[in-house]
Amino acid sequence: MRTHYCGELNDNLLGQEVVLCGWVHNRRDHGGVIFIDLRDLRGKAQIVIDPDTPESFSIAENVRSEYVLKVKGIVRERPKGTINEDMITGAVEVLISDITVLNASITPPFPVDDAQTYSDTRLRHRIIDLRSDRMRDNLILRARVNDFFRRFLSENQFLEVETPILTKATPEGARDYLVPSRTHPGSFFALPQSPQLFKQLLMMGGLDRYYQIVRCFRDEDLRSDRQPEFTQLDIEMSFVNETDVIDLMERMIKNLFGAVMGVSLKDPFVRISYKDAMEKYGTDRPDLRNPLEIVDLSDIVKDCEFKVFAEPAGKKNGRVALLRAPEASSITRSQIDSYTNLVSQHGAKGLAYIKINDLEKGSEGLQSPILKFLSESVVNEILLAAGARNGDLIFFGAGESKIVNESLGVLRLKLGEDLGLTEDQWRFCWVRDFPMFEQNDSGALTPLHHPFTASHQSVEFLQETPEMAISRAYDLVLNGLEIGGGSIRIDDVETQLSVLKVLGIDQLEAEEKFGFLLNSLHYGCPPHGGIAFGLDRLVMLMAGEESIREVIAFPKTQTATCPLTDAPGMVDGKALQDLSLKTTVDRSKG
Ligand code: AMO
Ligand code: AMP
Repeated sequence: MRTHYCGELNDNLLGQEVVLCGWVHNRRDHGGVIFIDLRDLRGKAQIVIDPDTPESFSIAENVRSEYVLKVKGIVRERPKGTINEDMITGAVEVLISDITVLNASITPPFPVDDAQTYSDTRLRHRIIDLRSDRMRDNLILRARVNDFFRRFLSENQFLEVETPILTKATPEGARDYLVPSRTHPGSFFALPQSPQLFKQLLMMGGLDRYYQIVRCFRDEDLRSDRQPEFTQLDIEMSFVNETDVIDLMERMIKNLFGAVMGVSLKDPFVRISYKDAMEKYGTDRPDLRNPLEIVDLSDIVKDCEFKVFAEPAGKKNGRVALLRAPEASSITRSQIDSYTNLVSQHGAKGLAYIKINDLEKGSEGLQSPILKFLSESVVNEILLAAGARNGDLIFFGAGESKIVNESLGVLRLKLGEDLGLTEDQWRFCWVRDFPMFEQNDSGALTPLHHPFTASHQSVEFLQETPEMAISRAYDLVLNGLEIGGGSIRIDDVETQLSVLKVLGIDQLEAEEKFGFLLNSLHYGCPPHGGIAFGLDRLVMLMAGEESIREVIAFPKTQTATCPLTDAPGMVDGKALQDLSLKTTVDRSKG
């Protein structure tokens, strides 16, 4: 229908006749001449309808926003002084000879490109929203990322293999979405939380290198970086160790940023153990754009007289640590109170601090509510450990390690922002060697990654001191967000059963839940490992967005509903009956 996209016009086309198709972005009536910005996927072009063409003019007089037009005309230079620097096509316009309304539009609920529109309204009228520059750019970026991955992986001998969506539970730590079986009353499929077990089976099946851009389903509390259905770039490789996977994936991500963003990531990504990450940054997903580091003080204060410090410092699961805020002594009392409030939301019982006014003056040069509890020598050791300089403000956390890490970790991020220390750049980091297990609130051990992750330790070690076992898992973190995670997998039945046992799953239950995996492990399993990237999160960061909704064409709301289709919805009684289901919900109120 058309000869060019609106967004492609430029002065090489001057004098040429073009046919454009698109939507009316806006229409301006300038005393006898009508100007329309016509929009399509590639951008906008200004078209001009002169009263000299009365038929076209009368059509143009009646078009409104979001009408769909086909127009024919000659490209010409805009008069001097009317050039629009904001439009790519801003130096030219098209003088129209012929105009056809392909379809009319009722008044749209909000103007395309209106940044103020409330997000649920945008989701309800998603087609209007998708016409915006923002959504268009985000979805184009996403498509380019997918395209890059497919090409890179194919060039590196990976096969794209699809895995089932109607399947059995795949434990990734969230609740399953269940699908009732009509043919097996009372039985349910689970939608995959990830293709984890299938990709392992593919390795056992000799496929060697697998990838899939795949939808995963997790019924969990939603946040800006979590959707109930999201997309993974899922990868598995045979005959590899951690370094093989990490090296190749790092090369892939670097090439991606080069190819799609024009960003050259020269330095190797930081590789840090879970233990070091927790100690230095208080979190397993450190934001390395921020230079601040937490310093451990437990050894220095474990025998001091200040109980608030000495007690946790002497405990196995306790910690005392400091965070030095450089040149921050001008921070006011009320700001310190707001930081205290911030850490208290993460369980901290207080936020001791020392202001360093003048180190030369000894304790006279320091200002702090805790100096009276500490001997001069302990204070000196603390200052030395902190690397304190005049003008610094040192904050302290003392208590259960988990609380100290979390609260100083959060304070670190806040100080980085408030003091302008967080640099605007791409900072990747691999976090490795996670604990195999963590204790949940009821004291039971749960896997930190998933139950198919191999350990550095022996079966005996796993049985005797599971809480000490270190896994062969790794995460890729970008600017403080986990964008991928994977591991080397267990490749023998004995270890697999032993890990399941630690998780409270005996052999009988293991056979019932994972019999297909355990059986397969008997037939010659290659050592294998892999990773899955959260594609939505990665594209969100690349697009500079704050929520993964902005990079998903049809996302769900915070309460896991779809305002566009009104899903989920009630089904009629017959449908339930066919599935042998009854609901306890009063459907008349639905
Ligand atoms: P994991 O559970 O860490 O690993 O998931 C991999 C990555 O997927 C992203 N992600 C999410 N993104 C959006 N919404 C969600 N609800 C959501 N949950 C996770 C994260 C995460 O890093 N099978 C393993 C991978 C493996 O071992 O190979 C797995 O699924 O960016
Ligand atoms: P207190 O003796 O409770 O008045 O505390 C003295 C100082 O130590 C105050 O500045 C408190 O904010 C701080 N403080 C108390 N408990 C902790 C803690 N667990 N971690 C860090 N600072 C604390």
